[in-house]
Amino acid sequence: MEIKITKTTNPKTKPTENLGFGKYFSDHMFIMDYEKGKGWHDARIVPFADISMSPAATVFHYGAEVFEGLKAYRCADGSVQLFRPIENATRMNNSADRIRLPQIPVDDTIQAIKQLVEIDKDWVPSGAGESLYIRPFLFGSDAQLGLHEIKQARFMIICSPSGSYYAEGINPVKIMIEDEDVRAVRGGTGYAKCGGNYAASNRAGEKAEKLGFTQVLWLDGVERKYIEEVGAMNVMMKINGEVVTPMLTGSILPGVTRKSIIELLKSKGYKVTERRISVEEIINALESGELEEFWGCGTAAVVSPVGELYYEGKTYVINDNKIGETTQMLYDTLTGIQWGRIKDEFGWTVNLGK
Ligand code: PLP
Ligand code: COI
Repeated sequence: MEIKITKTTNPKTKPTENLGFGKYFSDHMFIMDYEKGKGWHDARIVPFADISMSPAATVFHYGAEVFEGLKAYRCADGSVQLFRPIENATRMNNSADRIRLPQIPVDDTIQAIKQLVEIDKDWVPSGAGESLYIRPFLFGSDAQLGLHEIKQARFMIICSPSGSYYAEGINPVKIMIEDEDVRAVRGGTGYAKCGGNYAASNRAGEKAEKLGFTQVLWLDGVERKYIEEVGAMNVMMKINGEVVTPMLTGSILPGVTRKSIIELLKSKGYKVTERRISVEEIINALESGELEEFWGCGTAAVVSPVGELYYEGKTYVINDNKIGETTQMLYDTLTGIQWGRIKDEFGWTVNLGK
């Protein structure tokens, strides 16, 4: 794929502190357009700027949009590396397939990410826990209000130098188990990383925030009995020495971090089980003291301990609201591999040099 490059003549001043998450954007962005019959064309890297689109574009009306999230990390030797980008490029195609957006060859997505990061390499921050968050997204751009096959689409990538996703950082977050709204059902779009899933989460998310919780833990949409995932992360817990995590049923996002942590734990000899986990089982294990640790994991959230769970008017404290031993080990090992402090024996990182 040939990418036409137009560099900015007006580079922005880089933020130096309090990056937060997703607030600042690098100097450039990637764009490529699709038209049925013609395929993907006009791949280009241009200065980061507003885009112009028809107000009739299908993304504005019927939510035809999928996205990804990955990071570029600055290693101690000054080089920059990506973490499992093929996983993100592949998942984007799986998500696109569900919404009937056109597929993008995985190699082209990777090339676009690499070239964009190369151009904006100076934007990869080097502070503790900071990285360049990369957000690829793909949407329907047909200017037609009828419900129809998507014939025009656009793929873009933007980058945001970011720090911790949660204000709590690595400190335990408080999570509310939602028993009214549901996020996704099997047969729906839960496994796809599409914008609509996040829109469906807004009401419960707002309720949780008002009650002083960081995010919502979703229950399955049919029986409202089994836990699924949190707004921006998959969840795992340690019960009686065994790590358990909700199995992928089609309504949960198959997280890259989740997959990596399962591989990591198994390589260290931990017993890990993917299965259905009822909220009742969790409450019982909390009350009997068998639930030792609970954490969430995701690209933005990294590994985030959960210190409190709220369900039906009651708050349950986990591990005295402190980060547990396994959670800490996972955080240290995963971030160690991502930032190049620990040797990557899994072949997950892609180093792009200095
Ligand atoms: N679940 C949801 C709903 C998410 O938005 C995310 C974040 O991407 C995750 C799980 C974790 O996925 P990953 O580890 O691929 O970032
Ligand atoms: C990510 O972790 O990459 C995500 O996409 C989560 C998002 C809701 C910030």
